Amino acid sequence: MNDLKNKMIILTGGLGLIGKELTFFLAKNNAKIVVLDIKLSKELKKIKNFDSIKNKVFYFKCDVTNLNSLKKVLPKILKISKKIDVVINNAALNDTLEGKPNPNLSKFENFSIKNWNESLKINLNSLFLCSQVFGKEMLKFKDGSIINIASTYGVVGPDQKIYLNKNLKNTFFKNPAYPTTKGAVISFTKYLASYWGKNGIRVNCISPGGIENNQNKDFIKKYTSRTLLGRMAKPEDLFGVVKLLCSKESSYMTGANIIVDGGWTTI
Ligand SMILES: NC(=O)c1ccc[n+]([C@@H]2O[C@H](COP(=O)([O-])OP(=O)(O)OC[C@H]3O[C@@H](n4cnc5c(N)ncnc54)[C@H](O)[C@@H]3O)[C@@H](O)[C@H]2O)c1
Repeated sequence: MNDLKNKMIILTGGLGLIGKELTFFLAKNNAKIVVLDIKLSKELKKIKNFDSIKNKVFYFKCDVTNLNSLKKVLPKILKISKKIDVVINNAALNDTLEGKPNPNLSKFENFSIKNWNESLKINLNSLFLCSQVFGKEMLKFKDGSIINIASTYGVVGPDQKIYLNKNLKNTFFKNPAYPTTKGAVISFTKYLASYWGKNGIRVNCISPGGIENNQNKDFIKKYTSRTLLGRMAKPEDLFGVVKLLCSKESSYMTGANIIVDGGWTTI
């Protein structure tokens, strides 16, 4: 799988928790990484050892839910390389425990249509638009790999019990929109894989389990006990699968959903 050298990889949400790590990993593998994010460029400096990879990273501030923003950025991307090899649709709105959300607002009974629509926009419209805009360029070469990032919550329903505190009260509810969108990411992957299969574009999906990121100890313990490997995920746990799907060594894979969850969804 050492064929990433000089491949152009577009990574949406490249300045998030997983995105920063993927940017570093793919650049270290000598790919050219185009980072599209709404966060400002100063966030790039928070990528570890950024100086060692900076000549391989091309950042554009871009709202990936907005067709005009994508159309504006496309010619700039094509100046770096005419061939887009890989698109990783990673940007999403992921309500997390770390952000100390208000449990009342995330309860299904109270969850607002505004928040529902926002989630659909970021988690799904971005996939539709990025796949359309960048996929059309891939069609010209009859070659490309689209990697969509879903979640275990697109495969199974969220276990709300892991968010209970010591008094058995929910400190947080996984809201209804996130799992709904992630299930749709898996379905969209199958749709596009089937639609573009004959055109040389492969479309696959990765469903990660929860990443450990300074959540409270009690939550980590509860989450961990539901996995078979006895721990939460680290961003690095996704490296191997991402690298495989970027590489020609996965050339007979399309429409797949690869679950990377330490066994959470097995039992
Ligand atoms: N963190 C987890 O535990 C976990 C688990 C399973 C799946 N995932 C999935 O992995 C992916 C990355 O998750 P993460 O934890 O790194 O999330 P994150 O919130 O840390 O990062 C998301 C990034 O997307 C960017 N973004 C949001 N809206 C955007 C827009 N309109 N245009 C451009 N950029 C935008 C944000 O600025 C941010 O940098 C997501 O698809 C998420 O659903 C995460």
